[in-house]
Amino acid sequence: MKTFGIFSFLSWMAATATAGYSGIPDGYSLGNVTWVGNITAGGPEVTFTGASFPEIEAQIRQANPNFAWPEHDVSSADKAMLVDHLSCDLPQFYYAVRDKVIDGIDYLRGKTGQCHMDAGPYVCSRISCSYDSAIFWCNDNDTPLTIDCGLWSEYAQNILDECQTDDASEHIKGQQFNVDNWNIIVGYSKC
Ligand SMILES: *[C@@H]1O[C@H](CO)[C@@H](O)[C@H](O)[C@H]1NC(C)=O
Ligand SMILES: *[C@@H]1O[C@H](CO)[C@@H](O)[C@H](O)[C@H]1NC(C)=O
Repeated sequence: MKTFGIFSFLSWMAATATAGYSGIPDGYSLGNVTWVGNITAGGPEVTFTGASFPEIEAQIRQANPNFAWPEHDVSSADKAMLVDHLSCDLPQFYYAVRDKVIDGIDYLRGKTGQCHMDAGPYVCSRISCSYDSAIFWCNDNDTPLTIDCGLWSEYAQNILDECQTDDASEHIKGQQFNVDNWNIIVGYSKC
């Protein structure tokens, strides 16, 4: 735990600076995410809505306790074509803890189905969050949005690969945009 001192200090700073922080910066709002997919072989497709993906997964498992995520790969062609710019400089957001972001990416990886969010702009759903380290999916369009849920982990992985600091603090934040005006944000959020 040689980084404990630095990390504690950062946590303290974050806690102090973010007293009363609702989870996302001014100008953004938190919305629900709606998932459409098959929970039994061959369908029919069902729809669940929740404030986070774990909430949706709980509803899926309640409806079908034997549910398992199928094998699923987003093709590399899809990934490459759809990715727009990435920014590691996100002044409105505080840093997340790298290891917790890795856990979040592992959790989101391989999720199949179609994910839907209401019209934005700057509406985000906190698709994963642990130890105040969040992954958000944000819609900057003024129209509703539906995407392949499997893209979330790919975008968050890009942020992890490009934005993690090389120093001992092991913190990270960043935003990966898609050409269709939505994005994934990794950053601090009270959860
Ligand atoms: C999210 O869904 C819940 C439960 O359906 C609902 O009460 C809440 O108003 C929704 N929030 C938004 C921002 O739409
Ligand atoms: C659900 O299963 C049907 C039949 O196999 C398939 O056509 C459809 O694409 C699946 N839906 C989703 C959202 O994966």
